[in-house]
Amino acid sequence: MSKEIKKLVGDKAAAYVEDGMTLGLGTGSTVYWTIEKIGEMVQQGLKVQGIPTSIATEEQAKRLGIPLVTFRDVSHIDVTIDGADEVDPELQLIKGGGGALLREKMVAMASTRVIIVADESKIVDRLGQFPLPVEVVTYGLDRTAYDIEQLGGKSTVRKKDGETYMTDNGNIILDCDFYPITAPEKLSQQLNMLPGVVENGLFTNIADTVLVGTAEGRVIIK
Ligand code: A5P
Repeated sequence: MSKEIKKLVGDKAAAYVEDGMTLGLGTGSTVYWTIEKIGEMVQQGLKVQGIPTSIATEEQAKRLGIPLVTFRDVSHIDVTIDGADEVDPELQLIKGGGGALLREKMVAMASTRVIIVADESKIVDRLGQFPLPVEVVTYGLDRTAYDIEQLGGKSTVRKKDGETYMTDNGNIILDCDFYPITAPEKLSQQLNMLPGVVENGLFTNIADTVLVGTAEGRVIIK
């Protein structure tokens, strides 16, 4: 989807930001535009503080002068805005295409409200055509991949520039084919029970609002 649609929907989400809020700052090429907009608002006097979900977002927020805090400073977040790789009709999500799923889920689950920004290519009837990212520890990688396969998902180790991709947390991502995912909450629980799994990219019952940018230049609110 085009940069224009991502910017349109990303900008729109900044309207949910109010003075005094603690914000969860998501990761990806759509929420990038929300963060740029929040940066502009901060430069115009808005008082907010943010918790970033990745090193990339932390660097962007610092460049824009958005004050940052950590979970040492705050125990609760008012609003988190983040992207998604797939959104189903019940607003269940797949996230982690950018590799930031662990921090994204920690931040989202500490938030009163979670707003997702996406373009219409992310809207699906059933999750799983986008391979499900699962963050795993490096130790025993093959055993964890075997365990995941026993649950029905064939996995591929994520690579970047020919090298094994490492998350901001020093872990590996297995991209797993579970299509079609008929029971996302159950699968999420089963994956997280495996000892080598740190977290998985199924975000069930987490999104409150999804803003969808369309090719006609509209934003639909779900
Ligand atoms: C990051 O790990 C992901 O969860 C992103 O939020 C997701 O991949 C959406 O990114 P884009 O907005 O770049 O598609």
